[in-house]
Amino acid sequence: MISGKRILLTVTGSVSAYKALELARLLRKAGARVIPVLTEGGARFVTPHALQAIAGEAVHEDLWSLAEEATIGHIKLARLPDLVVVAPASADFLAKMALGLADDLATTMLLATQAPILVAPAMNWAMWAHPATVANMATLRSRGVQVIGPGEGAMAEAESGPGRLAEPAEIFAAIEALLSPSPKPLAGKHAVVTSGPTHEPIDPVRYIANRSSGKQGHAIAAALAALGARVTLVSGPVHQPDPKGVSMVRVESAREMLAAVEAALPADIAVFAAAVADWRTAAAATQKMKKVPGQAPAPLELALNPDILSTISHHATQRPGLVVGFAAETENVIENATTKRARKGCDWIVANDVSGDVMGGAENAVHLVSASGVEDWPRLPKDEVAARLAQRIAEAVGG
Ligand SMILES: Cc1cc2nc3c(=O)[nH]c(=O)nc-3n(C[C@H](O)[C@H](O)[C@H](O)COP(=O)(O)O)c2cc1C
Repeated sequence: MISGKRILLTVTGSVSAYKALELARLLRKAGARVIPVLTEGGARFVTPHALQAIAGEAVHEDLWSLAEEATIGHIKLARLPDLVVVAPASADFLAKMALGLADDLATTMLLATQAPILVAPAMNWAMWAHPATVANMATLRSRGVQVIGPGEGAMAEAESGPGRLAEPAEIFAAIEALLSPSPKPLAGKHAVVTSGPTHEPIDPVRYIANRSSGKQGHAIAAALAALGARVTLVSGPVHQPDPKGVSMVRVESAREMLAAVEAALPADIAVFAAAVADWRTAAAATQKMKKVPGQAPAPLELALNPDILSTISHHATQRPGLVVGFAAETENVIENATTKRARKGCDWIVANDVSGDVMGGAENAVHLVSASGVEDWPRLPKDEVAARLAQRIAEAVGG
């Protein structure tokens, strides 16, 4: 898979940069063309001479090179590779990528490239755990940047923890996997996914909502699309970027969400990850409700919303082949999810404990409840939960 591929290897300012030389050697041995790019920080740790000798090709370092930029070299460079690998990726460089800065050759090329990107972070454990780095990694992952490592273990500064650069052989294997044509087991299948909260109007300016961010539902839509499914994503109001290659339907209330889901049928797969409001106001005011000084507020009368999961699970003519619901619980998670599965008539329930920082957070610890029992999954980034779930769905309904 690697032979003949053009891999742009960007080396940044980490003490582990020496391992990039071994990676370049492995890639060349496998027949790849290695195009080396060195940042200013990277050049403090490996010399351009060493990198270009091992890569077998001139190293690119300077955005302001008169010779290269006579033909707009940074854009040419961006168009060249089949894959961009940043190894090691320093905390500083990842932050620049997340912000979309373009203040040197490597960052400018990354902003201009259409090629897939793999980063191999390497830094001290405290830098890796810093909220700024955690947020930057979440941004990069949400844009489809692939990540390998970091590993855990001894560091140059005689400390230990997560942050070590993945071994060159591991990075090589990740590159090989990314360059292999990805299987599309869900090709020809239609999936409807719901995501985010719903907003139930009280009057034209106020509404009842919940804390759902839409991260998990959007990640599931993206993961199903990556496995070849045609995906309709029905989303409540969220601040998530639209996943690549899915058809978006934006709604506000639970009733609009149900109507959009029904309009999207028939589907082979339905995943209801949205946090749909159980209740709405019985009658939303058509004008803004006024505060009258000295008067108690009028009580809000609530009405039950339609149950999307149950409605679609019991659909007389167009029940999707596999219906997956979500159960956000704060106590008796598995017990409540198991009863919910039976009551709603869906096939699987993904149960999660939302008593911590799950809603809006980057990670999720879920249990998959199906007819064959309960599977406990480890705490994982939401896009990895999504990838696992999509894989399981593909095994269940894929061709
Ligand atoms: C000895 C030494 C080792 C360093 N190792 C790392 C490292 O492993 N990871 C990291 O993120 N930054 C590390 N730094 C800090 C970066 O080199 C610094 O943030 C630099 O600006 C990054 O440049 P870049 O954006 O070109 O990578 C180290 C600095 C020194 C002096």
